[in-house]
Amino acid sequence: MIKVKKRKFLLLPGDGIGPEVVGEVKKIIHWFNKNKSLDFEIDEGLAGGVSYDKHGTPITDEVFYKALECEAVILGAVGGPKWDHVEFSKKPERALLKLRKELKLFANLRPAICFKQLVDASTLKPEIVSGLDIMIVRELTGGIYFGEPRGIKPIDNGERKGINTHTYTTSEIQRVSRVAFDLAKKRKNKVTSCEKSNVMEAGLLWREEVQQLHDKEYKDVELNHMLADNCAMQLLRNPKQFDVIVTDNLFGDMLSDQASMLTGSLGLLPSASLGAKNKDGKVRAMYEPIHGSAPDIAGKGIANPIATILSFAMALRYSLDLDKEADNIENAVQDVLNDGLRTKDIAEKDKKEVSTKEMGDAVISKLK
Ligand code: IPM
Ligand code: MG
Repeated sequence: MIKVKKRKFLLLPGDGIGPEVVGEVKKIIHWFNKNKSLDFEIDEGLAGGVSYDKHGTPITDEVFYKALECEAVILGAVGGPKWDHVEFSKKPERALLKLRKELKLFANLRPAICFKQLVDASTLKPEIVSGLDIMIVRELTGGIYFGEPRGIKPIDNGERKGINTHTYTTSEIQRVSRVAFDLAKKRKNKVTSCEKSNVMEAGLLWREEVQQLHDKEYKDVELNHMLADNCAMQLLRNPKQFDVIVTDNLFGDMLSDQASMLTGSLGLLPSASLGAKNKDGKVRAMYEPIHGSAPDIAGKGIANPIATILSFAMALRYSLDLDKEADNIENAVQDVLNDGLRTKDIAEKDKKEVSTKEMGDAVISKLK
């Protein structure tokens, strides 16, 4: 066995079910260290509401610097009703947004894959979703999430005005589109770009810049443009028409939630947030399940750890080029689902319901 140099993951379990699902990833990391001599190093930190409770801020500088230095961040989830009263700039979600923005993680990859074992868990008809394999590439550091001016201010008549600004520049659009085209080349070679070019100038610019990049560098990839509202409808009508969808921050937030439910459960879907390559070809990255902190089931030991486990597999694939190890994990998940193991979110009649820990253990028992 070849010894690989120490590589550090920063685990940010966060709030709600975050610590439970990240706990299962920790077990998997230990398994790889023990059985494959991979020497992964783990560091841990507080982010989100737990950090606010302890330090009065959703993420401390210390944790942020750890994020800058590690190979990849694995995040559980942040937020919950407990922090509803907290001032906007200190809300748990700000930790996530700060990490995305300041690590410059502009490309968010959100796969929506329908596992064949779970076709019946979707609310859509089996023939609509079976074999579904979509990749949503969401722009993550621009658009209305970050545009200035923003705020809430009093206006003349005693009313208040809420302001957010939607902006995009050529380079912001093109760098995320490039990620989408490159991914499509390794898949079914088809990109659908979504915006509202019929209403918003920033949407029109989006369409034009994606088209220009395509004509210059990616002529061999099929490109379609679709209005985002139509895309929402088409995702329900005929989701298998899509291969890679590239879209802005806000539409990507909504369309990826919608796409995830085609697959039956939010509890299964991982995501990767990637930055630009640096000089040594390394990419800053954060990996997290698509689901949130699910406060209603937190602490009960019933959350599905698969989305987080698959997020770790994405980390191995995209940050460390460990494709074989990523395949190992993904195959183990398939095996466990084949065996009929189900957490509550994907429970089926006559199938045993297992806890978060049992699901994690089962995946580990299938690792080769
Ligand atoms: C997501 C979440 C976040 C977002 C929240 C928690 C800030 O919904 O990752 O999709 O809106 O981006
Ligand atoms: Mg969301």
